[in-house]
Amino acid sequence: MNYRHAFHAGNFADLAKHAILTRLLRELTATPAALTVIDTHAGAGLYDLAAEASRRTGEGQAGIARLMAALDAPAAFDDLKAAVRRVNAPGEGRYYPGSPVLVAGALRPRDRSIFCELRDDDALALKRVLPRELGALVHRGDGWTQAAKAALAAPAALLVLIDPPFERGDDYAEAVRLTARLLRINRGAAVAIWTPIKDLATFDAFLGNLEDAAHGASLLAAEVRLRPLTDPMRLNGCAMVVVNPPPALDDHARTVVDWIARNLGEAGAAGRVTRISPRSGGNTGDPRGRGGGEGG
Ligand SMILES: C[S@@+](CC[C@H](N)C(=O)[O-])C[C@H]1O[C@@H](n2cnc3c(N)ncnc32)[C@H](O)[C@@H]1O
Repeated sequence: MNYRHAFHAGNFADLAKHAILTRLLRELTATPAALTVIDTHAGAGLYDLAAEASRRTGEGQAGIARLMAALDAPAAFDDLKAAVRRVNAPGEGRYYPGSPVLVAGALRPRDRSIFCELRDDDALALKRVLPRELGALVHRGDGWTQAAKAALAAPAALLVLIDPPFERGDDYAEAVRLTARLLRINRGAAVAIWTPIKDLATFDAFLGNLEDAAHGASLLAAEVRLRPLTDPMRLNGCAMVVVNPPPALDDHARTVVDWIARNLGEAGAAGRVTRISPRSGGNTGDPRGRGGGEGG
């Protein structure tokens, strides 16, 4: 496994993923029920944008640095920006918080979190970064298998973030399989899956398979396309797909993907939010045609 998130931390894809994640956390901690969060592919937790990996790609500078400097950034990014400020000295922007730090910062004492990371070094770094008293558990190992075990032991309010590197061809299928399993364990679980967008055929096939696996649960797909999808070898965009999304997520997600497309994209960039409502009939073969409004 070659993937190191340090090269990509704070890029446009992290901004989309994390601005939607922080909103999910805000909504799911607004009710009294204790929340469990499972992060299947957690990473190192905190990234140094001044380190060689980040400087080499420049992705953090082209992403979070521009968001923090923007005067027109909408309130939809406020929770993410506040989390960035919390891990930095006043006025500085050297460090970027990964999903575990965002989760840890949002949870209450009664909530629980489980972070899975396959790499020894990143799992160790993550253990150092997370506050001990938090009710957070770092599991060094395979998130695909650990997530279902953790979901079996969790109370009703459950959020699962699935954020694999997509280096392996079967990551899409694994994400669909795990979602189906999680929903069998807990029908009301919110499951958020980050995916790259290179070509539309791959993404639409994934959405169709996920909809089948979701068995009538509603889905929200928030897409950022940085450019028209003419070269399938490039990372042309990304999506956060949320199963069982809270009602207020649509407008938030639309604001997020629109801002990123408009400010960080190239000519022809676009944001798009699609809600796929539970279907009553058979598979139409067109995930975009299955109920639900669209915007962005
Ligand atoms: C995209 S990064 C995660 C970023 C993190 N979720 C965030 O938003 O800050 C994917 C991570 O998954 C880890 N990984 C790869 N395969 C894994 C597996 N089967 N189980 C758990 N972690 C895995 C990689 O080492 C990498 O750190």
